[in-house]
Amino acid sequence: MPKTEPIKAVRGVRDILPEERGLWRVAEQAAARVAHRFGYREIETPIIERRELIERGVGEDSDAATKELYRFEDRGGRQLALRPEATASVVRAYFEGGLNQGPQPARLYLMGPMFRYDRPQKGRYRQFFQFDIEAIGGSSPALDAEVIEVARAWLFEVGLKELTLELNTIGDSICRPAYLDLLRAYYRPFKSRLHSECQHRVEVNPLRLLDCKVPQCQPFKADAPRITDHLCEPCALAWKTVRQLLDAAGIEYHLNPYLVRGLDYYTRTVFEFYPAGSTGSQDALASGGRYDGLAAALSWESTPGVGFAGGLDRVTELMATEGEQVITEPAAEVIVLPDGDLVAEAAEVARLIRTVRSAAVDYEPRSLRAKMRAADKQQAKWAVLFSAENAKQHKVQLRDMRTGEQVEVSWPELPERLLPD
Ligand code: HAM
Repeated sequence: MPKTEPIKAVRGVRDILPEERGLWRVAEQAAARVAHRFGYREIETPIIERRELIERGVGEDSDAATKELYRFEDRGGRQLALRPEATASVVRAYFEGGLNQGPQPARLYLMGPMFRYDRPQKGRYRQFFQFDIEAIGGSSPALDAEVIEVARAWLFEVGLKELTLELNTIGDSICRPAYLDLLRAYYRPFKSRLHSECQHRVEVNPLRLLDCKVPQCQPFKADAPRITDHLCEPCALAWKTVRQLLDAAGIEYHLNPYLVRGLDYYTRTVFEFYPAGSTGSQDALASGGRYDGLAAALSWESTPGVGFAGGLDRVTELMATEGEQVITEPAAEVIVLPDGDLVAEAAEVARLIRTVRSAAVDYEPRSLRAKMRAADKQQAKWAVLFSAENAKQHKVQLRDMRTGEQVEVSWPELPERLLPD
């Protein structure tokens, strides 16, 4: 048979190896702790959704729904997609699961993989993980400030305290249309000088002109009309309240009139957390905002909501570079090393040990010496050795791998001898 290449992972996705997984667990546990501290309860939603949910949720013209969506047809001819984000799914689940009938707002959190067919680079993957928070069924601007506080508390909790919070409002369905007309009118005379995608945006999605990073589009931004000058009264009041609440909480922010976000469902408050001193080309650690029109866009009853998602890939990468101790997933504390073909006995001994400590058996057909070397490499705390003769008498040699001390112990005594202090 011709030799073929070994099969590797799909481009843009990666494995998180046991060496890194410990650090991820720290970030995940901090997320769950912070979420619970603020009264958010965990929810899981499927990774596959109907394509329509995603397209109508994040906006049919958004990158997440067009260029970046993993879409497929299942065997039943259903049009499906891998979720690129969780908000549309959580809103769907809120209605389908009857959470809209319970106390409002429903405070929910979710952790899991998301999929975007983006150009892979450091901090940007095609499968990545989010910690997502949603407060659905509440319109108070206090909830906007609350989710910002949750995001910040999580980043603080994992040791990332040097942060910049970018903040803006993008109005709502009452005041935004007139503002977008102003923006279009402002940009039309310059249209031919914008890069091709922005030329298209002038008519289709003019808000995205404001967060374009392409150099040739930059000179036009400074004089562009600002939404904060064109808010309707309720939006202006909400905007003022959010800022007052953040001030009262001692949360610093940078007002950024060009922050508009890439998903179409946002209304009013939008925000992004960056590592302090980041150049702007860097990607956000966590970002979100209010989405009062999303439920209706999915044909559910109009319901306000606000939330954010933090990127676990980026957060753990930064934790590692900031010197957060790399916590390796521990292998078994005790390794059982039968000298010879004593499989059933070794399994029995391991079972006894597991009543008090983690244990693994070395079943490989190799010398005891080689097994000892392997146990040492795995940094086992104890090795439990036995020969066929020992096995007959239900005895083992218990060796402390650190001191090299070795004692004979009977099977029934083993758990007692290995009890954690
Ligand atoms: P988003 O800004 O698209 O918002 O993503 C949130 C976070 O996910 C980003 O700040 C970033 O840390 C991480 N992220 C996004 N794309 C990638 C990628 N390709 N690779 C690695 N990390 C990535 C949302 O997804 C909204 N659903 C957030 C939200 C919740 N808004 C309201 N509620």
